[in-house]
Amino acid sequence: MLRPRNVDHRAEIRSRVHLHEHFALTSSSAILDPSKHDRFVQDTRKLIDSISPQQCAGWQRFVKCAEKCTEIFLPSREVDFAAFIQSVTFCIIITGFYGVDPGTLSPVDVAFMTNALNHHPDGILRQTPHYPGELYAMRERVCRWVGRERASQALETILPAYESMWRLAAVTLAYANGNQHMHNAFLDFSENPTQKQFRSFKVKNTRPSVEAIINEVLRLHPPIQHIARKSRHPLWKRLFYPAQEIADIGAVHRSCVYGTRPETFDAMRFHPQHERPVKMQLLAFGHGGLSCVAEEWAPMATALIVAKIMDRVDDVGFVLIGKAFDARMYRNTRTG
Ligand code: HEM
Repeated sequence: MLRPRNVDHRAEIRSRVHLHEHFALTSSSAILDPSKHDRFVQDTRKLIDSISPQQCAGWQRFVKCAEKCTEIFLPSREVDFAAFIQSVTFCIIITGFYGVDPGTLSPVDVAFMTNALNHHPDGILRQTPHYPGELYAMRERVCRWVGRERASQALETILPAYESMWRLAAVTLAYANGNQHMHNAFLDFSENPTQKQFRSFKVKNTRPSVEAIINEVLRLHPPIQHIARKSRHPLWKRLFYPAQEIADIGAVHRSCVYGTRPETFDAMRFHPQHERPVKMQLLAFGHGGLSCVAEEWAPMATALIVAKIMDRVDDVGFVLIGKAFDARMYRNTRTG
């Protein structure tokens, strides 16, 4: 379904469901317009490349942003776990991608943006779309940060980056916080945020790498659980079939192709010497022509967010308390 045969690229773009409600903020979004889509994706790729680990200076700048943004949002009193991760993630995205100085972001503006993005309608749940005043207020803030010229495109890039990355960061933190080995792996990565460290299995290959932990979270809790497309049945068949098809990524990831005990969190299943190492590609970033442009970059970048938070929330100055896996994390979200 995600890589259909004999369907041209433009038709694939048009097959996205409830267009203006899915992966885009407006119906005129470049993400949804076949004539602008490829250009938009190319520009987003360039943005990502500029701060990828292969670009030493760019990645170093991104690491600094992650440190500063975490510092800014460390609360002076108890704060909601999800709200904290959302603010930090949003701040890292806008400062990392667009070179905005973290010190110039007002926490009130950041809270406005995260609240607005959180109730971005889902193509499947059919929530109410943003009303024009809210979109205007979002655009006004983004204009102030990145300039009028880049604002519209920036909003459309921030949305998919934010909504997936904050969830991946939150769930990973909740898992790693209760486990000394995972905790240590993230602290090592915070100190030395290189690709080699990201991929290194620990304690003589008996404990998972940061990459394996992130992959296991993506497998069990893909931030986007369902990807929908308009169904391609011929007109006469449409009476008998639903108007859309849904790829249930969450269900596939819990099937036995990913190894034994698929319901259990076991990051070591990604170790090449595991009894049944995972060979199947994860589908958390989609598949085929419309899959995520940030597939290579996002896992390591999100791991960095987790690592920098863990470094500061050290059980001395700051503590994570209560049940981090709170139902609130799953309310009003894109079913992830
Ligand atoms: C954990 C992180 C992420 C996950 C799990 C994720 C997941 C996905 C998925 C499943 C799709 C495909 C949707 C479809 O087939 O309709 C997608 C598309 C997309 N993602 Fe991501 N994403 C992540 C991070 C990011 C980031 C950081 C950015 C931007 C910098 C981004 C930008 C995009 C864009 C622009 C598309 C549309 C691609 C196209 O139309 O060709 N994503 N993402």
